[in-house]
Amino acid sequence: RGGTCLIPSPQDPERLSRERTSIGVKNGKIVAVSDQLAESDARTVFDATSLYVLPGAIDSQVHFREPGLTHKEDLESGTRGAALGGITSVFEMPNTKPSTTTSEQFAEKLRLAIGRTWTDYAFFIGATPDNADTIAGLELHPNCCAVKIFMGSSTGTLLLEDDETLKKILKAGHRRVAVHSEDEPRLRERRALVEGKNDPKLHPFWRDDITAIKATTRLLRLAKETRRPVHVLHVTTGEEMELLKNAKDIATCEVTPQHLTLAAPEAYERLGTLAQMNPPIRDERHREALWKAVNDGTVTVLGSDHAPHTLEEKAKPYPDSPAGMTGVQTILPIMLDHMNKGRLSLERLVHLICRNNARLYGARMKGEIREGFDADFSIVDLSKERVIENSWIASKSGWTPYDGMKTKGWPVATIVRGKIVMRDFEIQGEPSGQPIRFDQA
Ligand code: DOR
Repeated sequence: RGGTCLIPSPQDPERLSRERTSIGVKNGKIVAVSDQLAESDARTVFDATSLYVLPGAIDSQVHFREPGLTHKEDLESGTRGAALGGITSVFEMPNTKPSTTTSEQFAEKLRLAIGRTWTDYAFFIGATPDNADTIAGLELHPNCCAVKIFMGSSTGTLLLEDDETLKKILKAGHRRVAVHSEDEPRLRERRALVEGKNDPKLHPFWRDDITAIKATTRLLRLAKETRRPVHVLHVTTGEEMELLKNAKDIATCEVTPQHLTLAAPEAYERLGTLAQMNPPIRDERHREALWKAVNDGTVTVLGSDHAPHTLEEKAKPYPDSPAGMTGVQTILPIMLDHMNKGRLSLERLVHLICRNNARLYGARMKGEIREGFDADFSIVDLSKERVIENSWIASKSGWTPYDGMKTKGWPVATIVRGKIVMRDFEIQGEPSGQPIRFDQA
């Protein structure tokens, strides 16, 4: 009742408008958006006066580590963090142990998720040099968000490094493929430059901007040749943004809040290996270029690349320390803080984290406040200020790069298909997340 809702504009449904209105929910679906709803018909009324009601936010890049690496994270703890951070759906990556590359492993992840997730979920299927023959079938699983390709090696064993193998996978299947774009031969060549130095500041020097630009240039060429749409994950350089701006017919792309918030060398000086992720946090010039791309329409979506590792693992000497940081719980508060500082509009944020994520991957009935859609809502208090602290982080790894940071604009309730799973920073109810279904056009 009575929240300011971000709904499709009546004049142009492609745009969003802010309406002070109420939303009727029945059996987990939105059945009405109107200020004329009779409250006596409702079993539960959520008073959203003075709050903003966003379509459920989707984090389309998380690594939850189950099976195989559950000392870092599992599906329960990962989705608990998501719900605490105002996220209603997550798309989970295939670099678990074993990697998710066969129908049996995919089925096993779905089995592991039953009754243990606080949000809705979908899984990526990993491309390998050996599964080109089966992957076209695998990507059609109704709960598969997409195929994921690693062009450069990161956590886990998934890798497609040469053009021939990449082309084989791009030619198999037709849905948009999500890609980690770093050039493996260059990464291998340059690793010796940082070996034995134990200096995390060297991370963007080892995995330099040319490594990313080279891979994205190759990828766009191959995507055009094979006519396969691609989605470039966690883009980190201004040069790639220029390439992507001119390749919208074939490519979409993502940025992460950490690449928009942290910059070298300060982040590495302050956080050491906690700032180490792939592709790396780069300098101010690149960060500014990413912001420009967020606002000129080049960037399609935001994703957190939530990639937990324990503090003990992170304490290994660089470059043996693992790359990745938590993010699923902080993506929305960090971006709301940027919004409050005037770096992007609330409407743009809703496009980037709710609507575009759903459309890009074809998630059915997600990402909009519209009759017939799932009743997923991220309810936010735009003026609430709070300090992000490690003790708040649900991840088994127990830390965030933003520990001690005061931010403005906070999710105060998370509603998944009509069920309130977080209210006033506390989890409530039972884990009742469901697999998301995808259109496979
Ligand atoms: O920093 C990263 N960590 N980047 C990736 O692409 C993988 C991730 C992980 O799974 O740890």
